[in-house]
Amino acid sequence: MAKKYNRLLLTGAAGALGTELRLSLHKYADHIRLSDQVDIDNCAEHEEFVKADLADMDAMIALTKDVDVVVHMGGQAREGAWETVLNSNIIGVYNLYEGCRKNDVKRVIWASSVHAVGFYPRTEIVDSKSTVRPDSNYGVSKVYGEAMAQYYWDKYGLESISVRIYSCFPEPLDRRMLTTWLSYNDLRLLIDRCLWAPSVRHTIIHGVSNNTSVLIDNHNARHIGFHPQDTSEIYREKLEANTPEPDPKSDVVARHGGQFTIDQHFDD
Ligand SMILES: NC(=O)c1ccc[n+]([C@@H]2O[C@H](COP(=O)([O-])OP(=O)(O)OC[C@H]3O[C@@H](n4cnc5c(N)ncnc54)[C@H](O)[C@@H]3O)[C@@H](O)[C@H]2O)c1
Repeated sequence: MAKKYNRLLLTGAAGALGTELRLSLHKYADHIRLSDQVDIDNCAEHEEFVKADLADMDAMIALTKDVDVVVHMGGQAREGAWETVLNSNIIGVYNLYEGCRKNDVKRVIWASSVHAVGFYPRTEIVDSKSTVRPDSNYGVSKVYGEAMAQYYWDKYGLESISVRIYSCFPEPLDRRMLTTWLSYNDLRLLIDRCLWAPSVRHTIIHGVSNNTSVLIDNHNARHIGFHPQDTSEIYREKLEANTPEPDPKSDVVARHGGQFTIDQHFDD
C-alpha cells in the first residue's frame, strides 16, 4: 500500500510513548525523523535522529523542514517547575507550530492530556466542547497547546489533532486507571486513525481504552474513526486485591485529574 506521507517527524522519540510509537511509524512514511533533547543512537535505515530542544526556535524551524506530518510527544510530561513547563510546553509548542507554519507542514498530532480538564468531577462526562478546567501548570500548558492548535487551523489552515491522553501505561497502575487507562495498542490505533483521517481541521479526541466506565465522550471526534480494542477490566481483580480502597470523598478519586488536583503548587 502506498504510504500517505513522505517524511514524518516524531518528537519526544526517546520517551515512553515515543518509544512505543516509533515501532510502527514506518508504514505511514518513507522517512521518519526522530527528535528529542536526549540522544537516540539506534536508528534504523529509514530513521534519522536530530537532537533538539523544543525551546530553541531556530532548532524547531530546522527540525520541521521537509516534514509532512508531526507526531508531537515531546515535552514535560507531568507537573514540574514552572520554568520547565514554560520552556518545554509553552515556548516549545509555540516554536513547533511556528516551524510547521513556516515549513508548510500539513498536520500536527500531539499529546494533550486529561489534566486540561482534570478538575471535572467524575460525575460529569467531558467532551471536546466542555470548558477547560486544568488542574496544574502542566494542565494549563496543555490548554495552551489546544488553543495554539485551534488558532493555527483557523488562521493558517494547519490541521491538528489534540489527543487528550488519560493514562497510557502498559497496564493500569491503580484503581483510578480502571477508568482512565489507554493501552499501548489503543494508543497506536488512535495515532493510526489520526494519521489516516482524510480531514481533521482541529479535532480534540480523548485517549481512553474501551473500559467499562469512562469519563469522556468522543462523539465530536467520530470522523477520526477511533474504536479502542482493549479494556482495563481484565486487571480489575488484581488491582482491587493489591491496592487499598481509596477514600471516596478525596478529590484523588472524585475528579478526572486524580492526584494532580490535590498536589501542592510545585514551586512552593
Ligand atoms: N503517559 C501518559 O499517560 C500521558 C498522559 C497524558 C499526556 N501525556 C503526554 O504524552 C507525551 C509523552 O509522554 P511520555 O509518557 O512518553 O513522557 P516522557 O517523559 O517519557 O517523554 C517525553 C519526552 O520529551 C522529551 N522532552 C522533554 N522536554 C523537552 C524539550 N524541552 N525539548 C525536547 N525534548 C523534550 C523528553 O526527553 C522525553 O524523552 C507528553 O507530552 C505527555 O504530557 C502522557
